[in-house]
Amino acid sequence: MNKILVTGGAGFIGSSLAEKLAADKNNSLVIIDNLATGSIDKVPQSPYGNVRFIKCDVNEWRDVAGIMYSQSFDYIFHYAALVGVTRTLENPVKVLNDLSGIHHLLSLAKNCGVKRVYFSSSSEVYGESFHFPQHEETTPLNSRLPYAIVKNASESYLKAFQQEYGLEYTIFRFFNTYGPRQTKDFVISKFIARALKNEPIELYGDGLQTRTFCYIDDNVDACVSAFNNNLYVNDVVNIGGDLEIHIADIAKLIVKLTHSKSEILNLPPLPEGDMTRRKPDITRMRKLLSRDPVTLEDGLKRILDDTRFIL
Ligand SMILES: NC(=O)c1ccc[n+]([C@@H]2O[C@H](COP(=O)([O-])OP(=O)(O)OC[C@H]3O[C@@H](n4cnc5c(N)ncnc54)[C@H](O)[C@@H]3O)[C@@H](O)[C@H]2O)c1
Repeated sequence: MNKILVTGGAGFIGSSLAEKLAADKNNSLVIIDNLATGSIDKVPQSPYGNVRFIKCDVNEWRDVAGIMYSQSFDYIFHYAALVGVTRTLENPVKVLNDLSGIHHLLSLAKNCGVKRVYFSSSSEVYGESFHFPQHEETTPLNSRLPYAIVKNASESYLKAFQQEYGLEYTIFRFFNTYGPRQTKDFVISKFIARALKNEPIELYGDGLQTRTFCYIDDNVDACVSAFNNNLYVNDVVNIGGDLEIHIADIAKLIVKLTHSKSEILNLPPLPEGDMTRRKPDITRMRKLLSRDPVTLEDGLKRILDDTRFIL
């Protein structure tokens, strides 16, 4: 039996991961989340009764220490973080508090017999890149904003704890991920919600920024494959899609698929934090996924067919 701690497991990606892990009766999960952006409704139910939820702030030592010392976890998936471009730009001090969370978890993990820590880093560690596709080893890290700096420093914490205490890690650098349970702070879910209500869809700047998108099932299947097969131990993997699309074209595609009357409007560009381009090298991720990634159009249709997408 694998005893697994999932932090941020009431959030979009964490709950999707937890659902997949809990479908294996050899796993026993404790999910912790402070419900800042997550919701108790997303915590998966399992027929095996192998999921327990505890409301807890990972950045509070006493909260997390009590749970770690009483449970003897084998593995940790640390997915809790303050997220969202606008929220993180407006709350830089809160964002930096997440450094306490990773430090607490690793300090406790090394003393409690944890075998490996899986961490949700971000494409933001690459900052405004000049090197494409962005590769785990060869693209320089150019983090400047607090959210990106926290992810970058967290990666350093993982490497340092591995070097000094032998605590294993796998770092997942997530690029834009989308799916039915995502909050409306993110581009695709926000645009779909607007389109379904025939409200204007607003783009920052000219909408010619490009992004790639990864459907949630691809993210979860790749990460669980790394876990089940002990791949990329003490290593880093980009987890994303590699088909680049202009933000303006996503808006048009969503309007088309939803038969919406929404206008597409251009707002002034964000002062910072809106990178011009992102495109991962996903050679490593493809080795984890034993199938083709879900296409953007298919992923959007799956969201529109999913009753868990709430306007
Ligand atoms: N969604 C993406 O495209 C994307 C891209 C890059 C990285 N990530 C990373 O993936 C992870 C999951 O993001 P998501 O998109 O599911 O966002 P989310 O907001 O749905 O999930 C984050 C969860 O963490 C919880 N949380 C936040 N601070 C906490 C704390 N101090 N203690 C306990 N719980 C806390 C929130 O309540 C929420 O449930 C995050 O680490 C995020 O930085 C996501």
